[in-house]
Amino acid sequence: MTQEQWSAVDRYITDLLVPLDPVLDAVLQSSATAGLPPHNVSPNQGKLLLLLARVQEARTILEIGTLGGYSTIWLTRALPADGCLITLEADPKHAEVARTNIERAKLTDVVELRLGRALDTLPQLAAEGRGPFDLIFIDADKPSNPDYFAWALKLSRRGSLIIADNVVRNGAVINAASDDPSVQGVRRFNELLASSPHVSATALQTVGSKGYDGFAIALVTADQ
Ligand code: SAH
Ligand code: DHB
Ligand code: MG
Repeated sequence: MTQEQWSAVDRYITDLLVPLDPVLDAVLQSSATAGLPPHNVSPNQGKLLLLLARVQEARTILEIGTLGGYSTIWLTRALPADGCLITLEADPKHAEVARTNIERAKLTDVVELRLGRALDTLPQLAAEGRGPFDLIFIDADKPSNPDYFAWALKLSRRGSLIIADNVVRNGAVINAASDDPSVQGVRRFNELLASSPHVSATALQTVGSKGYDGFAIALVTADQ
């Protein structure tokens, strides 16, 4: 199988099951025009996030890694009217593009974007007594994934769902000797999922328009 086939099948799935959405299209357009990296989840992955948040009946969501707000908007659309989503972004330019996109989606009242490195803003959230969150989506710098897992647990309750993007890295995740800090971060994260007594987890490989990667999903099984 080739990238071309994966993309063609993703197009087929998306044409069938993910209705055209002018706002989300504009989000991707404006992100590309602003020179942001194309690291957003794909449309069918965005819808998966929405469906998981709906199954979870999430009212509070924490996202680590906003980029242009594409996954932010998918997740926020799963929330009830009184729900809220907090998204953390370190890059001021990404945050500015995301703010415009969140306005475009008319979600400014529901989304709180916090600018700063997540390892600085997560302790602030905890100090403010925010959380527990019903769903936490980890999708920022991969070397920090082990730290993000620890914070995700702190900001969880029994029944919270923790989802992480990019846990397969084109298959590089099985290379224990990799000198890529992102691969090592993802490996350590997966090992923490395995060893933590507080979660029950699995991971799925994905292929599609975003190449070959994967999601990890963990259910928090004990109160924190
Ligand atoms: N979730 C987005 C994609 C996020 S890409 C989507 O699917 O649409 C990863 C983002 O994490 C980038 O915008 C990057 O600037 C941000 N990031 C990288 N290091 C970070 C850090 N230490 N703290 C917060 N955000 C960070
Ligand atoms: C990268 C980050 C992402 O969140 C993603 O979905 C794809 C790639 C990256 O940093 O390379
Ligand atoms: Mg990602």
